[in-house]
Amino acid sequence: MDAAQTSPAERATPIVDIRGLATVFGKGDQAFAVHQNLDLQVQPGEILSLVGGSGTGKTVLLRHILGLTRPTRGSVTVLGQPAARLGGEGASARVGMLFQHGALFSAFSVLDNIAFALRELGTLPADVVRDAALVKLRLAGLAPEHAARMPADLSGGMIKRVALARALIMDPPLLLLDEPTAGLDPNGSDEFCELLRTLHGQLGLTVIMVTHDLDTLYALSTRVAVLADKRVIVAGPPREVAQFDHPFIDHFFRGERGRRALAPATALAPVKET
Ligand SMILES: Nc1ncnc2c1ncn2[C@@H]1O[C@H](COP(=O)(O)OP(=O)(O)OP(=O)(O)O)[C@@H](O)[C@H]1O
Ligand SMILES: [Mg+2]
Repeated sequence: MDAAQTSPAERATPIVDIRGLATVFGKGDQAFAVHQNLDLQVQPGEILSLVGGSGTGKTVLLRHILGLTRPTRGSVTVLGQPAARLGGEGASARVGMLFQHGALFSAFSVLDNIAFALRELGTLPADVVRDAALVKLRLAGLAPEHAARMPADLSGGMIKRVALARALIMDPPLLLLDEPTAGLDPNGSDEFCELLRTLHGQLGLTVIMVTHDLDTLYALSTRVAVLADKRVIVAGPPREVAQFDHPFIDHFFRGERGRRALAPATALAPVKET
């Protein structure tokens, strides 16, 4: 592609740059490859949705980006550094993560859950940590009176919000979300999408989100990357990717669910006066 055809986003330094990635689990006869020759670049400010069948390695890919697991081959560069260097201390200041089965610490209050990473640093006075956690609580759309509640007393939507506030406590520029709207009813899911959209705009975040939910995907994504056949087979704007010829895409985007997810946009299109 020549320079005239590349958009400014494509010319920027990627926040995440994955090249030639291979992930092999098991040894000898038991060895199986999850990723092979996988490439993916994510530019600053994007909301990239990562989709793929169950077991195709979406969560493992997020764990590589977090530096929690090491690829067998290839490189994973995050914010200009090898992801492996992010692991451990300081990681949450660079990458926030909302885990797929993102349980909160059940013995900690909402506020203590949110404050966790900052408190662990041990560099700030308790009242500063508390104020910072209260700011994030508000940011995630919760009220100050929720601060003292225990996780068992929260709704599913509130748990997601607390987990989001916890992921953002250190103001990371990159946020990873693994199935953020799974388990929420359509209303809760819409509210969470709205919150993510607002935070993305306010905080200038780059977001990588694994999702099976087409409504969430169409509501938020600037681009979609499809994981199939052990690699990213296509990445681009949602409506372009939906036209790509592959059995998974056919089923995921053009099956009944896909047509339903697209329907509201069509219904809301302005009616031409005749
Ligand atoms: N630490 C590990 N050791 C061995 N195998 C693993 C490990 N982590 C993941 N796997 C395997 O790698 C494959 C990909 O797992 P992963 O959790 O990334 O799938 P996924 O795409 O997130 O699926 P889902 O949509 O169901 O969440 C699975 O077969 C899983 O069992
Ligand atoms: Mg997963």
